[in-house]
Amino acid sequence: MSIMLEPCRWTYVAGKLLPAERAVLPADCHPVHYGSAAFESLRIYRTAIGSRLVGLDGHLDRLEATMQQLRLMPVDRSVVRQALLDVIAANELEDGYIRLLAYPNGNCTRLDPAVQPSDLLIVAWRVNGARFSPPLTLGVADVRRPPAFTSLPLAKHSGMYGVYAALHSAARAEGFDDALVLHADGTVCEVTGANIFLARNGRLATPTIPDSIDGLTRRLVIELAADIGIATEERPLRLEDFAEADEIFITGTFHGLRPVSAINGMAPALPTPGPLTLALQKRYEQMLDSPGGNDGRWVTTISSAARNGNGNGHVPATFRVRPAQREDIPAVVEGVRLLLEELRGVPGIQLPAGAETVCARTIEGRTRGAIFVAAPNGPGSGLIGLLCLNVLESVHVGGAYGLIQDLWVRNEHRSDGVGAALVAAAENYCREHRLNSMEVCLPSHRFPRLPRTHNFYQSCGFIELGPRMRKEVS
Ligand SMILES: Cc1ncc(COP(=O)(O)O)c(C=O)c1O
Repeated sequence: MSIMLEPCRWTYVAGKLLPAERAVLPADCHPVHYGSAAFESLRIYRTAIGSRLVGLDGHLDRLEATMQQLRLMPVDRSVVRQALLDVIAANELEDGYIRLLAYPNGNCTRLDPAVQPSDLLIVAWRVNGARFSPPLTLGVADVRRPPAFTSLPLAKHSGMYGVYAALHSAARAEGFDDALVLHADGTVCEVTGANIFLARNGRLATPTIPDSIDGLTRRLVIELAADIGIATEERPLRLEDFAEADEIFITGTFHGLRPVSAINGMAPALPTPGPLTLALQKRYEQMLDSPGGNDGRWVTTISSAARNGNGNGHVPATFRVRPAQREDIPAVVEGVRLLLEELRGVPGIQLPAGAETVCARTIEGRTRGAIFVAAPNGPGSGLIGLLCLNVLESVHVGGAYGLIQDLWVRNEHRSDGVGAALVAAAENYCREHRLNSMEVCLPSHRFPRLPRTHNFYQSCGFIELGPRMRKEVS
C-alpha cells in the first residue's frame, strides 16, 4: 500500500475553481481524444514551519518544455503558479498531491493544438499516512520504452501514460506492485511513475536518461546524496547490475524515495530498506523540515500572503494601516478581546475595566508604544486588524526594544497580508524610535494555530528564541 489519497473539494478548470463534481472537460475536447496534455504532478508536505511544495520551479520549467514540444500555446508562468496557489488555498491543502495539466482547449476535429488556446486543469488530493511509502516489488515489462528519436523525449505528456498504465496493469496481474521498463537495447530505463537507483559498496548508480523522464526527484536525490558524501554514477545499467545491488530504490514525486524489495522476485543483498536508502530519506526529511539554506532552491513555503484569492468567493481586502485614534478605542478593545478568546479557546472573556484607559494612554503618547489598526478601504466599517506594541527595556537586550503584545486579524481576512502590513508598521515605528529589535511571545503549545503563527512571524523575518521570537531592526 502506498500513500492514501483523499480527493479535495475544489478543482481548477480553465480559469475557474469549481466543486470537483462540476469540474468536467467537454466530451469532444482535444486532450481526451489525443492525450495531448502536458502533465505534471506536485507534492506538498505539512511541516512545523508551514506547508512546503517540492520542486515548484523545476515543475514549471518542465511543463513549459513539454508544452513547447507538444506545440501547445504557451500559458504565462505567473498564471500557472497563481492557479496552483489558488488550488492549495481553496482546499486548505497542507499535505497533498496535485495533478497539473496544460491542454489545448479546443475541439478534436482540429488536430493542430497550436491553433487552440491552452488552459489548465488542476486536481488535488489530501495525502494521509507516513511521509515515505513502504517497499514495493517490480516485474520487468515486456514492452520497451521507445528510443528518444522515435518520440518526444523531453515531454512529460498524458499520451505516453496510456502505455505505462497497461504495463502497470500487466505487472499487477502477475503479482508485482509495478513494472520496470527497459530501453530498446535491454538496459534499465525507469518505472511507470519513477526513476530507479541502485546502491553498491556505498555508492549509488542510476541509468542515464536520454529516453526516460528527467525526474526532478532523481536530480534532488543525487544532490542530497552528495550532501551526505555519497557519490552517484549516471551510466547505462543492466538488469544484472540490479541483481548484484546492495539496495534498490525508486524516486518520483508520487512515490518520494521508496525502497524496492525485489525485481522479478530477486531481492537486493541487504534487508530492505537498506542503510543508504534510510540515510537519504533522513536527509530528504531534513530538507523538508528546515528553512533556508541550499534546500530553499527545492522547497517553496506556502505563506498565507501567497494565498490571495482563495476561490471560495472571498475577495481579498484592500485596506490601509494607520496609528489608532481615540475613536478606535472600543474596536481595539473588542479586537484584543476576540484575540484572547481565540488564544485561550474560551468564549465570553471580558477585558478588565482599565483596558480602555491603557489604549488611550498609548494613543495619546503618555506611555511608550503604539497601536496600529488596519481599516478597509472604501465602504465598510470596523477594523480588520490591530497590533499593540509596547516599548520595554531589558538587561538582555541592553536597552529598549519593541514588544508585540497583541496582533489580531479578523478571521475572514487572514490571507490578505493584513498581519504582515501591521508588523511592517510596527517595524517602522521601532526604526523611527531607534529601537534595535522587536520581539513577540508565542502562544501556548496547545494553541492549534501555533504552527501558522510561528510560520507567519518567520516569514516576517523573526527568528525563534525559545517561546519568543525576535527580529533585528536595521
Ligand atoms: C515515467 C516517469 N518517470 C519518472 C518520473 C519521476 O519524475 P519526478 O521525480 O519529476 O516526479 C515520473 C513521475 O511522474 C514518471 O511518470
